[in-house]
Amino acid sequence: MEIKKIGVLGCGLMGSGIAQTAATAGFETIVCEVSDEVLGKGFAEIEKSLAKFAEKGTITAEHGKEIRGRLRGVTTFHELADCNIIIEAIIENLDVKRETFKQLDQLCKPNTIFASNTSSLSITEIMTPVSAQRKGRFVGLHFFNPVPLMKLVEVVRTILTDEEVYEEVVKFSAALGKVPARTSDKTGFIVNRLLVPYMLDAIRALEEGVGSIVDIDNAMKLGCGYPMGPFTLGDFVGLDTTYYIAEIMFNEFREKRFAPPSLLKRMVLAGLYGRKTGRGFYDYTADPKNPTPMNLQ
Ligand SMILES: NC(=O)c1ccc[n+]([C@@H]2O[C@H](COP(=O)([O-])OP(=O)(O)OC[C@H]3O[C@@H](n4cnc5c(N)ncnc54)[C@H](O)[C@@H]3O)[C@@H](O)[C@H]2O)c1
Repeated sequence: MEIKKIGVLGCGLMGSGIAQTAATAGFETIVCEVSDEVLGKGFAEIEKSLAKFAEKGTITAEHGKEIRGRLRGVTTFHELADCNIIIEAIIENLDVKRETFKQLDQLCKPNTIFASNTSSLSITEIMTPVSAQRKGRFVGLHFFNPVPLMKLVEVVRTILTDEEVYEEVVKFSAALGKVPARTSDKTGFIVNRLLVPYMLDAIRALEEGVGSIVDIDNAMKLGCGYPMGPFTLGDFVGLDTTYYIAEIMFNEFREKRFAPPSLLKRMVLAGLYGRKTGRGFYDYTADPKNPTPMNLQ
């Protein structure tokens, strides 16, 4: 089967980026949301991003028009029935995702491929309510934020994924302009498996007085050539999200390296989520471009 028509479920942060990327790559793309209002917000984000690409000269006015022409927003699942692949990017909630895929399974053509963009849930667990046949056509497609700019996509196979379907999805990922990384359905996949313990270790180093927030950030940035230090990164990702993913990984693997340190838990309880709440390891409230380190003693 050749993938031509794409369905994207959810037009939030990730879904809008995935839809924009698919339409930019030349695919007919239908994006489904819960209401016209939310859909409007998602499309406004796409417009903003396309305008930035046009400003930089990455796309021409003509190309922008073509991209918009390939994108359609809908609010019912029925419109996704004849898509070749559906990429789900709705809220990170197992029950909601399972119920959604159960309904889609009954609506969609037997050969439609289902993909979830989950960051932390098990693909095998999400796909439990679909038919045995669909389970062979179920994968994870884990994109990174901001999707139109980040080149990586993790392509996740389960023990039931059909080999041909998997290769088709790898090919499709490359056609989206991404670099596919092949991985299997183990919590965290490749990136979070390695990144989350690193970020948690940085917090433990801070707790133990190995260095200050600024010194640890500078050490990893300037000593290792990372684009940002672990605390700047944590504030960017969201400390609530980091905590949530660490909890899921710790429950799965029962290894200390995935256990959220008590400082992280206290910060989340105190509402210090990072950039999104104005304060995290740094305080962004006075000048978001020049944040100052927090006193977390
Ligand atoms: N934010 C990230 O950096 C990131 C990175 C990789 C993967 N993910 C994963 O992507 C998924 C989406 O995350 P997000 O950050 O875009 O969240 P978000 O909250 O920005 O967007 C989720 C959207 O899904 C919509 N939605 C909820 N239920 C729906 C339904 N039944 N049908 C259609 N739309 C529905 C919501 O209205 C919302 O607009 C999650 O599974 C998350 O784990 C997030």
